[in-house]
Amino acid sequence: MSFDLVLFGGTGDLTWRKLMPALFQAWRHGKLPADGRILAVARDERSDDQYRAFIHDKFAEVEEAKRPSNEEFAGFAQLLHYRRMDLAQPEHYAGLKQWLDARGADVKVFFLATSPHLFTQICAQLGAAGLNGDEVRVVLEKPLGHDLASAQEINRVVRASFTESQALRIDHYLGKPAVQNLTALRFGNALFEPLWRRESIANIQITIAEHIGVGTRGDFYDRTGALRDMVQNHALQLLTMIAMEPPATGDATAIRDEKLKVLKSLKPFTPEVVSRDVVRGQYKGYLEETKVPADSHTETFVALRTEVQNWRWAGVPFYLRTGKRLAARDAQIVVNFRPVPHPIFAGTTGANKLVIKLQPEDGLELHLLAAKGSGNNETLSPVKLDLDFDKAFVSNRVGAYERLLLDAIAGRLNLFVRSDEQEEAWRWVEPVLDAWRADPSPPKTYAAGSWGPPAASALIARDGFAWDEEA
Ligand code: BG6
Repeated sequence: MSFDLVLFGGTGDLTWRKLMPALFQAWRHGKLPADGRILAVARDERSDDQYRAFIHDKFAEVEEAKRPSNEEFAGFAQLLHYRRMDLAQPEHYAGLKQWLDARGADVKVFFLATSPHLFTQICAQLGAAGLNGDEVRVVLEKPLGHDLASAQEINRVVRASFTESQALRIDHYLGKPAVQNLTALRFGNALFEPLWRRESIANIQITIAEHIGVGTRGDFYDRTGALRDMVQNHALQLLTMIAMEPPATGDATAIRDEKLKVLKSLKPFTPEVVSRDVVRGQYKGYLEETKVPADSHTETFVALRTEVQNWRWAGVPFYLRTGKRLAARDAQIVVNFRPVPHPIFAGTTGANKLVIKLQPEDGLELHLLAAKGSGNNETLSPVKLDLDFDKAFVSNRVGAYERLLLDAIAGRLNLFVRSDEQEEAWRWVEPVLDAWRADPSPPKTYAAGSWGPPAASALIARDGFAWDEEA
């Protein structure tokens, strides 16, 4: 199969930090279809060779194991091409079409790695230039809108040129191996399904903690905040994967229909629920970051409690927590099971838990209670079965962007977000944004290197639980 992958925003951060390293890994592992071209598009004038040299230099900033040798780069660089385009000019799209038509690849993928305000313009122009045939797919990176209305507007414009199955919305968390393993765990194994419900599960915690601050992205981040940047997409996607009903088949429609049902079942936020169940925090030092206004109320931390209001999950709290400058880079989902109904081991407290680890390594831990074998009537001790996927599948690991780019080229839609899912997620978070806008009080501050404001611990302690902070 031949493909042309066009990267709009070809000199931008996302391209050289994430996309090029991912494409290189795919190429290095022989996973990229052989007959392919990668065309980077940007504003300035460069030759193909100048662009190749630019990418070559940028690889120096990529982690060492993912850098090409000179020989490897020479091979990979053969795929790379460059084209200058003014995205507002219809004739530049006509020129692009000519370039693409001259070869007529089986598949054409347009990856929009530009600033999001250009998405609608690019999609409309691609459509107008006739670059929207059946062999075309368009990949959209987040953020897709900043609220429901703006997301709907983007979707409206995209839909005018492309069908739903041609528009691939990326949430790179869905490409993470641990997330794919979550589906495998739930629907490829019979073991957990009977327990995956309110009768056995006490609570579910989803944490996406980052150690880093906003860095050089102060400008973007201050307009965005953690709720839009992480909760509306990454955290909610994880929640849907954990809470969804078993789909009838493994195809994209069946899976996405079930995820949508979860989003529609989430307990709605009212102003009262927001003030009780949502904590907004800001790390100390955020106001001194570059391009952050000194009086900013933007949240760098969110913790919230919600429920999935259906038969399976009624009454089970789902806690979501994400933030920057926290104690560790740690992303995990913890499924806390209920304790045994009638304890016979004196002095034993605790219960089973399943920890699905996404970061820093991906793996699975099943925590059990066991006897150490040191005497009669002993108190049970916690032990864990620990599965490290990196060790188990050492030769086949595929990173998130690599996986998603390969899926985009192959037309596999399972790991992309459908427009109705995305809009439903906005619909759910919007009342929180509204409540915060109406509230003049600043976010609660927290020390860099902590686990967020104390109010986040109080939120969960209210239900008699605690965050899993073993990491
Ligand atoms: C991005 C957010 O979507 O995800 C960033 O915009 C965040 O703010 C990043 O740092 C985290 O991704 P990962 O894969 O490093 O956990």
